[in-house]
Amino acid sequence: MAVRNIREIGDEILLKKSKEVTKINDRTNELIDDMIETMYEANGVGLAAPQVGVLKRIVVIDTSTEEEEDGLLVLINPKITSTEGEQTGHEGCLSVPGKTGVVTRPEKITATYLDRDMKEQTLEAEGLLARAVCHECDHLEGKLYVDLVEGELMDVKPPQESDDDSEREDE
Ligand code: NI
Repeated sequence: MAVRNIREIGDEILLKKSKEVTKINDRTNELIDDMIETMYEANGVGLAAPQVGVLKRIVVIDTSTEEEEDGLLVLINPKITSTEGEQTGHEGCLSVPGKTGVVTRPEKITATYLDRDMKEQTLEAEGLLARAVCHECDHLEGKLYVDLVEGELMDVKPPQESDDDSEREDE
Protein backbone atom coordinates (compact mmCIF):
# COMPACT_ATOMS: atom_id res chain seq x y z
CA MET A 1 0.00 0.00 0.00
CA ALA A 2 1.10 3.54 -0.59
CA VAL A 3 -0.08 7.01 0.20
CA ARG A 4 -1.03 8.80 -3.02
CA ASN A 5 -0.89 12.47 -3.84
CA ILE A 6 -4.25 14.19 -3.22
CA ARG A 7 -5.33 16.44 -6.08
CA GLU A 8 -6.43 19.90 -5.03
CA ILE A 9 -9.02 22.37 -6.27
CA GLY A 10 -7.86 23.91 -9.54
CA ASP A 11 -6.85 20.48 -10.86
CA GLU A 12 -9.13 19.75 -13.83
CA ILE A 13 -9.44 16.06 -13.01
CA LEU A 14 -11.66 16.98 -10.04
CA LEU A 15 -14.22 18.39 -12.48
CA LYS A 16 -14.45 15.26 -14.64
CA LYS A 17 -17.01 12.50 -14.46
CA SER A 18 -15.70 9.10 -13.35
CA LYS A 19 -16.31 5.83 -15.21
CA GLU A 20 -18.14 2.79 -13.90
CA VAL A 21 -16.00 -0.07 -12.65
CA THR A 22 -16.71 -3.23 -14.67
CA LYS A 23 -14.20 -5.60 -13.09
CA ILE A 24 -11.83 -5.74 -10.16
CA ASN A 25 -8.27 -6.59 -11.07
CA ASP A 26 -4.96 -6.25 -9.20
CA ARG A 27 -4.67 -2.60 -10.19
CA THR A 28 -8.15 -1.84 -8.86
CA ASN A 29 -7.36 -3.57 -5.58
CA GLU A 30 -4.11 -1.66 -5.27
CA LEU A 31 -5.97 1.59 -5.96
CA ILE A 32 -8.54 0.81 -3.25
CA ASP A 33 -5.84 -0.11 -0.70
CA ASP A 34 -3.95 3.07 -1.51
CA MET A 35 -7.11 5.19 -1.23
CA ILE A 36 -7.77 3.75 2.25
CA GLU A 37 -4.21 4.47 3.37
CA THR A 38 -4.30 7.97 1.85
CA MET A 39 -7.61 8.79 3.57
CA TYR A 40 -6.38 7.69 7.01
CA GLU A 41 -3.01 9.39 6.58
CA ALA A 42 -4.80 12.68 5.78
CA ASN A 43 -7.27 12.26 8.70
CA GLY A 44 -10.16 12.33 6.24
CA VAL A 45 -13.54 10.65 6.63
CA GLY A 46 -13.86 9.93 2.92
CA LEU A 47 -11.97 9.90 -0.35
CA ALA A 48 -13.06 9.42 -3.96
CA ALA A 49 -10.81 7.98 -6.68
CA PRO A 50 -10.66 11.20 -8.75
CA GLN A 51 -9.06 12.86 -5.71
CA VAL A 52 -6.04 10.64 -6.32
CA GLY A 53 -6.22 11.24 -10.06
CA VAL A 54 -8.15 8.13 -11.14
CA LEU A 55 -11.51 8.58 -12.90
CA LYS A 56 -13.16 5.43 -11.52
CA ARG A 57 -16.38 5.26 -9.54
CA ILE A 58 -14.84 4.15 -6.25
CA VAL A 59 -15.07 5.82 -2.85
CA VAL A 60 -13.81 4.92 0.62
CA ILE A 61 -15.47 6.27 3.76
CA ASP A 62 -14.83 5.89 7.48
CA THR A 63 -16.90 8.16 9.71
CA SER A 64 -15.85 6.45 12.94
CA THR A 65 -15.40 8.69 15.96
CA GLU A 66 -13.84 7.95 19.34
CA GLU A 67 -17.33 7.21 20.63
CA GLU A 68 -18.63 5.24 17.70
CA GLU A 69 -16.92 2.78 15.40
CA ASP A 70 -18.72 2.99 12.06
CA GLY A 71 -16.08 1.03 10.22
CA LEU A 72 -14.56 1.28 6.81
CA LEU A 73 -16.77 1.29 3.72
CA VAL A 74 -15.58 0.69 0.17
CA LEU A 75 -18.28 1.66 -2.32
CA ILE A 76 -17.89 0.76 -5.98
CA ASN A 77 -20.30 2.33 -8.49
CA PRO A 78 -22.38 3.86 -5.65
CA LYS A 79 -25.81 5.18 -6.55
CA ILE A 80 -28.07 7.09 -4.18
CA THR A 81 -31.54 5.66 -4.73
CA SER A 82 -33.55 7.62 -2.18
CA THR A 83 -33.18 10.50 0.25
CA GLU A 84 -35.16 11.76 3.22
CA GLY A 85 -35.10 14.98 5.23
CA GLU A 86 -32.36 17.60 5.44
CA GLN A 87 -29.30 18.40 7.50
CA THR A 88 -27.34 21.63 7.38
CA GLY A 89 -23.79 21.66 8.69
CA HIS A 90 -20.10 22.18 8.10
CA GLU A 91 -18.31 20.22 5.44
CA GLY A 92 -14.72 20.04 4.31
CA CYS A 93 -12.76 18.28 1.59
CA LEU A 94 -9.22 16.93 1.42
CA SER A 95 -9.00 18.54 -2.04
CA VAL A 96 -9.84 21.95 -0.56
CA PRO A 97 -7.34 22.10 2.31
CA GLY A 98 -7.83 24.54 5.17
CA LYS A 99 -11.40 25.43 4.20
CA THR A 100 -14.88 24.63 5.46
CA GLY A 101 -18.38 25.69 4.51
CA VAL A 102 -22.00 25.08 5.38
CA VAL A 103 -23.84 22.66 3.10
CA THR A 104 -27.37 21.24 3.25
CA ARG A 105 -27.59 17.52 2.51
CA PRO A 106 -30.27 14.86 2.98
CA GLU A 107 -30.51 13.58 6.57
CA LYS A 108 -30.98 9.99 5.38
CA ILE A 109 -30.02 8.22 2.20
CA THR A 110 -30.28 4.78 0.70
CA ALA A 111 -27.58 3.78 -1.76
CA THR A 112 -26.74 0.73 -3.79
CA TYR A 113 -23.13 -0.17 -4.53
CA LEU A 114 -20.83 -3.06 -5.34
CA ASP A 115 -18.47 -4.38 -2.69
CA ARG A 116 -14.91 -5.54 -3.40
CA ASP A 117 -16.29 -8.91 -4.54
CA MET A 118 -18.51 -7.05 -7.05
CA LYS A 119 -21.59 -8.14 -5.09
CA GLU A 120 -24.47 -5.71 -5.01
CA GLN A 121 -25.13 -4.21 -1.59
CA THR A 122 -27.52 -1.68 -0.10
CA LEU A 123 -26.51 0.97 2.42
CA GLU A 124 -28.87 2.94 4.61
CA ALA A 125 -27.18 5.90 6.25
CA GLU A 126 -28.03 8.99 8.22
CA GLY A 127 -26.23 11.97 9.73
CA LEU A 128 -22.52 12.28 9.00
CA LEU A 129 -22.37 9.03 7.04
CA ALA A 130 -25.23 10.18 4.78
CA ARG A 131 -23.41 13.50 4.28
CA ALA A 132 -20.17 11.69 3.44
CA VAL A 133 -21.84 9.41 0.87
CA CYS A 134 -23.44 12.44 -0.85
CA HIS A 135 -20.15 14.36 -0.83
CA GLU A 136 -18.17 11.44 -2.28
CA CYS A 137 -20.80 10.61 -4.92
CA ASP A 138 -20.59 14.25 -6.03
CA HIS A 139 -16.83 13.80 -6.59
CA LEU A 140 -17.64 10.98 -9.03
CA GLU A 141 -19.75 13.47 -11.02
CA GLY A 142 -16.94 16.03 -11.03
CA LYS A 143 -18.66 18.22 -8.46
CA LEU A 144 -17.05 19.88 -5.45
CA TYR A 145 -18.84 20.92 -2.27
CA VAL A 146 -17.60 24.51 -2.67
CA ASP A 147 -20.34 25.05 -5.27
CA LEU A 148 -23.00 24.07 -2.72
CA VAL A 149 -21.76 26.21 0.17
CA GLU A 150 -24.32 28.51 1.74
CA GLY A 151 -22.67 31.83 2.49
CA GLU A 152 -18.88 32.07 2.52
CA LEU A 153 -16.23 29.40 2.33
CA MET A 154 -14.35 29.83 5.61
CA ASP A 155 -10.87 29.10 6.90
CA VAL A 156 -10.67 26.28 9.41
CA LYS A 157 -9.24 27.02 12.85
CA PRO A 158 -5.56 27.94 12.78
CA PRO A 159 -3.22 25.04 13.68
CA GLN A 160 -2.24 26.45 17.11
CA GLU A 161 -5.85 26.10 18.25
CA SER A 162 -6.19 22.48 17.18
CA ASP A 163 -2.94 20.61 17.15
CA ASP A 164 -4.54 17.49 15.80
CA ASP A 165 -7.02 17.05 12.99
CA SER A 166 -9.32 14.64 14.78
CA GLU A 167 -12.28 17.01 14.69
CA ARG A 168 -12.00 17.75 11.02
CA GLU A 169 -14.49 16.13 8.75
CA ASP A 170 -12.67 16.40 5.49
CA GLU A 171 -13.75 14.24 2.62
NI1 NI B 1 -14.13 15.86 -0.97
